[in-house]
Amino acid sequence: MATESVVARIEVTKPWLGQEEAHALADVVYSGCVTQGPKVKEFEASFALAHGARFAVATSSFTTALHLALVVAGIGPGDDVVVPSLTFIAAANAVTYVGARPVFCDVDPATGNVTAETIHAALTLDTRAVIVVDQAGVPVDLDPIRALCDRHEITVIEDAACAAGSRYKGRPVGAGADVAVWSFQQSHILTTGEGGMLTTRRADWAVRARALREHSSNLAVLDGGESCLSPREICLEVGFDYRMTDLQAAVGIVQLKRLPEMVERRRKIAGTYMEALAGLKGLRIVSDPPYGTTNFQSLWLEVLPTFPASRETLLGRLAEAGITGRRGPYAAHRQPAYRWRDTGNASLRGTERLSDRTLVLPVFHEIDTASINRVINAIRNTAHPVGS
Ligand SMILES: Cc1ncc(COP(=O)(O)O)c(C=O)c1O
Repeated sequence: MATESVVARIEVTKPWLGQEEAHALADVVYSGCVTQGPKVKEFEASFALAHGARFAVATSSFTTALHLALVVAGIGPGDDVVVPSLTFIAAANAVTYVGARPVFCDVDPATGNVTAETIHAALTLDTRAVIVVDQAGVPVDLDPIRALCDRHEITVIEDAACAAGSRYKGRPVGAGADVAVWSFQQSHILTTGEGGMLTTRRADWAVRARALREHSSNLAVLDGGESCLSPREICLEVGFDYRMTDLQAAVGIVQLKRLPEMVERRRKIAGTYMEALAGLKGLRIVSDPPYGTTNFQSLWLEVLPTFPASRETLLGRLAEAGITGRRGPYAAHRQPAYRWRDTGNASLRGTERLSDRTLVLPVFHEIDTASINRVINAIRNTAHPVGS
């Protein structure tokens, strides 16, 4: 009988979860409170502390946190919000939920991020907010954007979904925005399965977001659920059900403690890839910008026209070697949901270039050296095919 050699598949990402998370989860199960409760409060407090924020409001996802951020910032019908096209479509969707108009702007191909210049090119007379993204974990250069937006009285919302543990000018990302929004969905460096967070310096925004996530009930604000007296419930405005559960928060508390170790490990893995692929012509790997450090939540590389194979061919070669590559972010303006959108005068050339040419390599805490070498060899073999 022929023996079949089974090569283990290498995933592009995997959460790093262990016994500590399992025990934290079991404690919540036995506590009898599995919905939003004390663990959510504890997670919010420790997340705010770790990210230089005064207030943190946990939610069911990044998308719901961003929806709340737009509502508390007063964005609504008649307003334009500048959003990069090169990002997860949730940003444009949340703008649409509040009845505002997403206006797509371009990114700098070097970082994958918006700049003051690309935002400036997309401003309209109705621009009330911009959503800047720390794409793949790479910090956005916020100071020039802040200066531009302050001049025009535009709210800065930071999509830091991918960037827990990344730093901008020595500070945690998110701290310089009016409001920052985070994701704990499974593909993110710090995960609670699903989940999100909003952080802000503004007490009034935090209080309103806290109420809105629970149908704007006065009991949410007053912690009325803790009283035996059955206080009268009053819903102050039309709100939502966007709560995080204590089950998720308990996992988040443990994950947050592990964050520095997770970032350190990812930066090491990225360094190994960079060193090994440095000599290959036609490949460009994302790296730290001059003003900050990335957590390498995703390590993307750009397949330039000088590389002997296309991005699609390289993805195919990786797949043949049992490696799950992934295309880099897509361009929202090319999605059927937004194809009809006016992109104004802003060129989206950088966006289309990265969306057509980038791919994401496997990076996760527990990836071993043999797996990293398999990925490197598959790329090298594509760059220098046997017999060439
Ligand atoms: C930039 C960005 N924002 C947000 C999200 C996820 O949002 P959610 O927590 O709503 O799934 C992703 C997911 O990959 C993302 O890449």
